[in-house]
Amino acid sequence: MKRLIIGITGATGSIYGWRLMEMLRSEGDTEIHLVMSKSAKLTLKMEHDVDPDYIDSLAHEVHQASNIGATISSGSFHSLGMIVAPCSVKTMSNIAMGNTGDLISRAADVVMKEGRKLVVTIRETPLHLGHLENLTKLSRIGAVIFPPVPAFYNRPKTLEDIVDQSCMRMLDQFGIHVDTAPRWGEVGGVQAVGQKLESILEPA
Ligand SMILES: Cc1cc2nc3c(=O)[nH]c(=O)nc-3n(C[C@H](O)[C@H](O)[C@H](O)COP(=O)(O)O)c2cc1C
Repeated sequence: MKRLIIGITGATGSIYGWRLMEMLRSEGDTEIHLVMSKSAKLTLKMEHDVDPDYIDSLAHEVHQASNIGATISSGSFHSLGMIVAPCSVKTMSNIAMGNTGDLISRAADVVMKEGRKLVVTIRETPLHLGHLENLTKLSRIGAVIFPPVPAFYNRPKTLEDIVDQSCMRMLDQFGIHVDTAPRWGEVGGVQAVGQKLESILEPA
């Protein structure tokens, strides 16, 4: 079975983290390892009425952020990689600097040193130069910088539509295909919108 690590930090948008796990559960072929920061638990409480036990129940294994001896802190524990969603500026900066004082930054650092994929769903705006420099550093060392920027060409109608589209594309990064949102040009996707666009665009 393949494994994926999900890190949830205290940036707003905790829904991205647990929606990813719901999608992985529906796909049914991935072992989910969850680690949430202390701030993530606070933000979750502020943003949603969802029971924290429900969030935990979506993972096959829940690791405490303070447990730097957890399985996911070692490169010998194999995984496809890790998604940190949402990722705060604090955790993003820690990962960029190699400051591995908690399990989220340690697991992320390990994933990169092992040449596995790290997706960083940075959630902050606007960004100052310090943020951009740290993001550039992270990109240089191999992370995928994935701000959860909504698409509109698929005509989202609900907040869930917007979240699902971003989460679907995060999982695409790992070759995990869950079709929870319309895909451009595919049958059952946004073909109709695409066709409409063709009739709007001037021929080249
Ligand atoms: C409701 C709420 C929303 C927040 N949103 C953000 C955010 O979007 N981005 C961010 O970088 N920090 C945000 N923060 C601040 C982080 O939670 C804070 O910097 C925290 O120390 C991050 O720690 P962590 O990375 O260990 O979770 C928010 C805090 C609260 C309470």
